Amino acid sequence: MLDCQRDAFDIPRDVAYFNAASWGPLPKAVQAAGHAGVERKARPWGITAEHMAGQFARARAAAARLIGAAPEDVALIPSISYGVAVAGRILPVRAGSRVLVLGDDHSSPVLEWLQRAPEGGFSVETVERPGDGDWTAALLEAIARPGAAPLALVSISSVHWADGGLIDLDAVGAAQRGAGAMLLVDATHHAGVLPLDVAALDPDVLIFPTYKWVLGPYGRAFLYIAKRWQDGVPLEQTGSSRRRVFNEAQPYFADLGFTDGAKRFDMGERDHLIGLEMAAVGMEMMADWGTAAISARLGWLTGLLAEGLAGMPGVEMPSEQVRAPNVLSLGFAGGMKPGLIDALAARGVHVAPRLGRLRISPHVYNDEADVAAFLQAFRDLA
Ligand SMILES: Cc1ncc(COP(=O)(O)O)c(C=O)c1O
Repeated sequence: MLDCQRDAFDIPRDVAYFNAASWGPLPKAVQAAGHAGVERKARPWGITAEHMAGQFARARAAAARLIGAAPEDVALIPSISYGVAVAGRILPVRAGSRVLVLGDDHSSPVLEWLQRAPEGGFSVETVERPGDGDWTAALLEAIARPGAAPLALVSISSVHWADGGLIDLDAVGAAQRGAGAMLLVDATHHAGVLPLDVAALDPDVLIFPTYKWVLGPYGRAFLYIAKRWQDGVPLEQTGSSRRRVFNEAQPYFADLGFTDGAKRFDMGERDHLIGLEMAAVGMEMMADWGTAAISARLGWLTGLLAEGLAGMPGVEMPSEQVRAPNVLSLGFAGGMKPGLIDALAARGVHVAPRLGRLRISPHVYNDEADVAAFLQAFRDLA
């Protein structure tokens, strides 16, 4: 199992930070990349075209490595909702078909389809949270539901943001393919922390941001698009997505054909090099630690927390079989005690309230002392 990596971060000993699912702290190396990037931007005459191209390639490669993709199948984008908007533009969802989403999933993989449904003549079907928290079984049932409209698309987070439920992507992928449907994965709480291999899974679209689990800045995210959809029209019309739109010489619009690969979907102002380099450094650190080693450590930490909470009256948590190793989300029989999250924070224990639940999300900087601090504070306050 991976050792505690607290030294790579700037986290005081009396802070138990269990909120990576909201925003990950920047490791010292990522901060240093940010400072260097700011200094470079302060003296931009030193920034060359080669440097810029190197930064795009580095970030694309670092993102691809975390999900088992080829770099040319990954686009540089700013957010999950941007990636889903690209999917909305390029994936054919036929009239009369249905799109499956998860109940109370984060808005980003859901709203695009709700917005498009009336005009597109398709329906959006919500898979409600099953009592036992087993999202995979509920999804498989919904995919196979007899008499339902043809399934066009499954648009889901692979780890549920509120209850921490883990979707078995292999099982869902096989069922969705069998139904002749497409798959969009919001891998926000998955990429980098849990093993993921798009070469084996073959989703149509998979998206993840950098500001949470992969320890980077806001405003940088990555969009994997299967080769079969890479001839679609991007969301934004940028010169960099075309074959020959060069600033330096005439003719300016020399060849407006789109470039090959997913980079035609790169965002406008992808040249925010400060954030891009920070993102690359964070993702490289994650890859060097390794997703298997990271998920083993986080599973051990959430296991310790679950053990310490077992038997507490009124506290419910999903079983180990259906929850992701990196998130432990507590439900409360009579509702969460008002003020609990703030009271915990006042004791240096940081967790998030999500849809009435208390979400605990450790990362590689957490250790047994943090677990003990949480359990003690929770017992005292809850
Ligand atoms: C599952 C999931 N998807 C997406 C996001 C963020 O979406 P966006 O990048 O569109 O702001 C979050 C943020 O909490 C999330 O939990």
